[in-house]
Parts: sequence; C-alpha cells; structure tokens
Amino acid sequence: MPDSLYRIESLWKRFPNGTEALRDINLELYEGQCTLIAGSNGSGKTLLMKTLVGLVEPSAGRVLYRGKPLMEVLSQVRQSVGLVFQDADAQIIGETVADDVAFGPKNLGVRGKALEIQVDEILQRLDLSSKKHMPPRRLSGGEKRRLAVAGILAMGCDTVIMDEPFANLDYHGVVQVLELIDQLKRGKKTVIVLTHELEKVLGLADRLVILHDGAIWDDGEAQEVLDRLKPEYGIRDPRHHYKTVEDCTWLGK
Ligand SMILES: Nc1ncnc2c1ncn2[C@@H]1O[C@H](COP(=O)(O)OP(=O)(O)OP(=O)(O)O)[C@@H](O)[C@H]1O
Ligand SMILES: [Mg+2]
Repeated sequence: MPDSLYRIESLWKRFPNGTEALRDINLELYEGQCTLIAGSNGSGKTLLMKTLVGLVEPSAGRVLYRGKPLMEVLSQVRQSVGLVFQDADAQIIGETVADDVAFGPKNLGVRGKALEIQVDEILQRLDLSSKKHMPPRRLSGGEKRRLAVAGILAMGCDTVIMDEPFANLDYHGVVQVLELIDQLKRGKKTVIVLTHELEKVLGLADRLVILHDGAIWDDGEAQEVLDRLKPEYGIRDPRHHYKTVEDCTWLGK
C-alpha cells in the first residue's frame, strides 16, 4: 500500500448563508497515485482542493498532511503541493514565460546562472522553450496549463492538483494536458485531478472518487465505481461508444 499523503477526517464546510458545501468528507489520498475526483458543477471540487492547501478553512473536521495537522505544516505543504487552477490566467505572475517559471525558485533564493539553468530545463521538459520570451497571456489555453505546471515543478513540488484541467481546451489542448499528466505520473508525482470530464482522463487514473452535493458517494477502482454510477451524481458514464453520427449527442443518453 502506498504511503498516505492526505487524510481528510469528517470535514465540513458551512457558509453563513446556510450552504453546506462540504459534508462529512472522509478521504485518504496516497502518495504516487493518480486520483480522479469527479463531481458535477457545484459538487464542491474547488472548495475541497482549496482545503488541501489551507486556502479554505473547514467549519469542522480536519486535514492531515503526512500524518500532521495541515495548519502545523502549512509552509511545507505550500512548497510541496502545487495547484493548477481552473482559470489558468489567474495564475500568471511573470511578464514572460521564463519570468513566470523563475518566480518560485527566486522566492526560494535561487539566483544567477543556477536559476537560468533550472528554468531552461523545466521549459524544455514541458515543451515551452520556444515560448520562453513570450508574454504568458499570449499562450494558448493548453500552453497556459503547461506553464502553470512548469511553475509548480520549478518549486520542486511533488504533488500536483488540477482543477478542471480540460476547461476551454480543444482536442489538441486536451491531449497536451493528458501528456502532461502522464509525464507527471512517470515522474512518480502524486496527481489529483478534479473534473466531471471522465471520458478524457479516466484511463490514466488509479482510482475514482465521486463527489456529489458536497459529499463522497463512491470511491474505488474506476470500473467498479462506474458500474455503480447513479444518474443523480450528474456524471456521465464515459463507456459510451460513438460509432455513428446519431450517437454524437449527449441528449437523451
Ligand atoms: N463563499 C461562499 N458562500 C456560499 N456558498 C459558496 C461559497 N463558495 C462556494 N459556495 C458553494 O459551494 C458549492 C461548491 O462550490 P465549488 O466551487 O467547490 O463547486 P465545484 O464542484 O468546483 O463546481 P464547478 O464544477 O462549477 O467548478 C457551490 O454550491 C457554491 O455555490
Ligand atoms: Mg470548480
């Protein structure tokens, strides 16, 4: 069994308006695994992700990181766990692609030639070398997600959490993100993907968790979880085939 990275115990998030956005979440996330957390719009994916790095404070329950309460090890968590937000533009910091990647290592005190080498190496790994001097806002959606991951890897993070990584991406962009997830897996990183677009990524996941209405409804091996899928979860079973033009609609299926 892989080591436990996160242990979430009886976690609740209630808002002053009465919304119970996370309801009694109990979840263990393991090191080196690729976990897919699937949930429809409003199921609590983004909030759950934010609780993992202390950006949202739970109303009850607790989050343990490598066995320790999250708040006691927050600076370690912020250095080890990188988030790729749904809105890639929100994460852009630098004037150029190279600046953007350099931001993290600079904060960690890396300077001069060492910084340059580190940035170049990461840009090359993520196939962004030719964009090095470009303003990040001019990158395509897929390239922006690659840039966000480049920044995370430059910090030396060993865990990458991606929130809806396929949002607004065309076929080529989706393939780029999938290749990236595959690369992270091969590099033994822990990858957590939050999405409702199972058909794009499930084949890469070691495990499937269903989040619905703020609660965990299922958790296990992908095939078994899909066999138990209920329509109310708002997740479409991706095992449909598109053999004819008539099949190419999600209406009524
Ligand atoms: N500050 C807040 N006050 C009240 N309710 C909130 C607040 N922030 C989030 N919520 C509610 O919590 C629920 C979960 O939100 P969250 O953003 O985590 O959903 P999500 O699964 O990421 O959805 P999407 O797929 O649309 O991104 C939603 O119903 C949302 O309206
Ligand atoms: Mg969200």
